[in-house]
Amino acid sequence: MLLSEQAYKKIDKELAKYPADQRQSAVMAALRIAQEEKGWVSDEVIVDVAEYLGMPTIAVQEVATFYDMYELKPVGKYKLTVCTNLPCALRDGEKTAHYISEKLGIAIGETTPDGLITLQESECQGACGDAPVLLINNHHMCVRMSKERIDELLADIQSEG
Ligand code: FES
Repeated sequence: MLLSEQAYKKIDKELAKYPADQRQSAVMAALRIAQEEKGWVSDEVIVDVAEYLGMPTIAVQEVATFYDMYELKPVGKYKLTVCTNLPCALRDGEKTAHYISEKLGIAIGETTPDGLITLQESECQGACGDAPVLLINNHHMCVRMSKERIDELLADIQSEG
């Protein structure tokens, strides 16, 4: 078994939402749970989720590669995803991504050498009115990210390690 007992229990909870012959309906949740535990979706994770759900590996792989919330290579402990889609880009979204990039000394898509922070950009996160916005680890949203707020956020992350 690749994941912890706890992770499989979480997947079982998702499975309970669907009829027994619809186990594949839980594939997105299962991949999310596996990613939360492993940090990213490796080939081993894909095979394991496929086996657990009784699905063809290729079908799980298709889901994992289609949605950009799944990481197909290792990422930092903190993944910062800045929205640079047009409405945000017009309101400093791109400048925000570049500011973080410069501060961390990494390009978008890269991870700091200490493995702490990965910087990514994304399409619309559904919070255009609060631009510039970024997500931490796919679920914690930070809005109106001025330079001061970014400085605070990075200092917090770096002090927590
Ligand atoms: S365009 Fe950035 S949140 Fe919508």
